Amino acid sequence: MLSYRHAYHAGNFADVHKHAVLTLLLEALKAKHKGFCYIETHAGAGRYSLAGGLSQQASEYRRGIDLLWRCADFPASLALYIDAVRCANKGAPERLRTYPGSPCIAHALLRPQDSMRLAELHPTDAQCLQTEFAAERNVVIEQRDGYQALQAWLPPSERRGLVLLDPAYERKDERQRLVQGVLDAYRRWPTGIYALWYPLRERGFAESLQRALSATGIRRILVAELSVRAPSASRAMKGSALAVINPPWRLEQALEPLLSWLCTRLAADDAGRWRVHWLVPE
Ligand SMILES: C[S@@+](CC[C@H](N)C(=O)[O-])C[C@H]1O[C@@H](n2cnc3c(N)ncnc32)[C@H](O)[C@@H]1O
Repeated sequence: MLSYRHAYHAGNFADVHKHAVLTLLLEALKAKHKGFCYIETHAGAGRYSLAGGLSQQASEYRRGIDLLWRCADFPASLALYIDAVRCANKGAPERLRTYPGSPCIAHALLRPQDSMRLAELHPTDAQCLQTEFAAERNVVIEQRDGYQALQAWLPPSERRGLVLLDPAYERKDERQRLVQGVLDAYRRWPTGIYALWYPLRERGFAESLQRALSATGIRRILVAELSVRAPSASRAMKGSALAVINPPWRLEQALEPLLSWLCTRLAADDAGRWRVHWLVPE
């Protein structure tokens, strides 16, 4: 049933896009001293070895983070993300050996007053998370369905925070589950920030997800899209999108130089495109 393993895709262009935006969202939450809660419904393994194993077999990171991590001319809005990757590879200045997944990137940015809750269904990946964060008192990990966990965890006691929903889209009904999961969560906690990742692949896929999201009645949804290949009829992923509900102030402005730079660096040819737009305004 759970055949998806993120290790095959770790550090690809979609991870770069998603994780760079994630750092901006967390940094915005840190503008206030009061603690916040970071929640992930589909957390993955937390960290991936690029020196062998599944990531090396797929080599997707070579068209992603490997093109960027040693660049010096990146925009300021990418600095936290690049720092997180470099930190994970301390002591290996020549070759990228490890890719930090979203839980590790987020955890590196949390302060003592912040907390993190992670759900992951795959037993191996859930165990990796347990091992990774065994010594951390402010991290809760549960091996369970992320949408169910979300209902149990909301609203967090801090009443401030971010939920990342990053499903694998291996189930046919994932779009419906995602939209319903977000709607249920939003009803419990309407002031939280929610970031939903989805792939840009065959025509119609993203559009139908966006229509369903708009139809929920939730307001203030900002979408950040990055495409690295031209659209086509095949199911292969051409790009990556994040829909952010209740985006922090000035996120839109921070995203523009970031996506523009990523697009120049990551697009395979002149088919690269990026866009920041309001799916639903105020
Ligand atoms: C795209 S990966 C997550 C990657 C991670 N967020 C990152 O960026 O580093 C999706 C993960 O969801 C897990 N998964 C699949 N169905 C799930 C469910 N119903 N609840 C929780 N996790 C699930 C998969 O095992 C996989 O590890």
